[in-house]
Amino acid sequence: MRIDILSLFPQMFDSPFGESIIRRAIDRGLVSILIHNIRDFTHDKHHTVDDYPYGGGSGMVLKPAPLFEAVESIKEEIGDASPVILLTPQGRLFCHQMAQELSTQPNLILICGHYEGVDERVREHLVTDEVSIGEYVLTGGELAAMVVVDAVVRLLPGVLSSEQASQEDSYAQGFLEYPQYTRPQAYKGWEVPPVYFQGIIRKLPHGGVSKLFNAPWSVVLTFWGRLFCPKRREG
Ligand code: ADE
Repeated sequence: MRIDILSLFPQMFDSPFGESIIRRAIDRGLVSILIHNIRDFTHDKHHTVDDYPYGGGSGMVLKPAPLFEAVESIKEEIGDASPVILLTPQGRLFCHQMAQELSTQPNLILICGHYEGVDERVREHLVTDEVSIGEYVLTGGELAAMVVVDAVVRLLPGVLSSEQASQEDSYAQGFLEYPQYTRPQAYKGWEVPPVYFQGIIRKLPHGGVSKLFNAPWSVVLTFWGRLFCPKRREG
């Protein structure tokens, strides 16, 4: 898979993509992630990417031309078919099912929004989807793009040690994962429950079932509710 990210702050991605599982996936050629500076697609002396909104109002708006040019230049390499996703608090709420769908794509183009937003023509004529990672406003789309990339890349075949590891995830299976313990058997007087030494948990089809029955109802209901990608609330 190839992921292209358009950002005003490309260096923000150095650390999250330079460590751990994502780094290994890149090194092993399972994914390539290309970060593009939106300013590289401007033509004026000051590399202007934003301007005042028509009609007044506070804040600046990302100009259409640099974003269109950036996406067009990427598409010259990868073709026209790639989803073009704008990260914005107004988008569809991101969830595991969306991550699974995106992980089947050969290409993704992510645009990190900033300031008061992007020119409406970008939303209407350039992007194919708008995604939010939660009902709060971040300073920009970069952190959201990192979240999406992390959730998608770990689902790519071969990225995790076994594909089972991702299939057994709570959200993929629809069950809460059961609590995990490691040594020591007693810590500060808190013992690992005896059931862990009786080989029972491994025999259950989904270890998580036992946790689901132990969890308070409020937790269970919230969990099941979240399994379905929530639509954006209107108004
Ligand atoms: N940009 C600012 N806030 C955001 C959010 N919650 N999700 C995605 N992109 C954003």
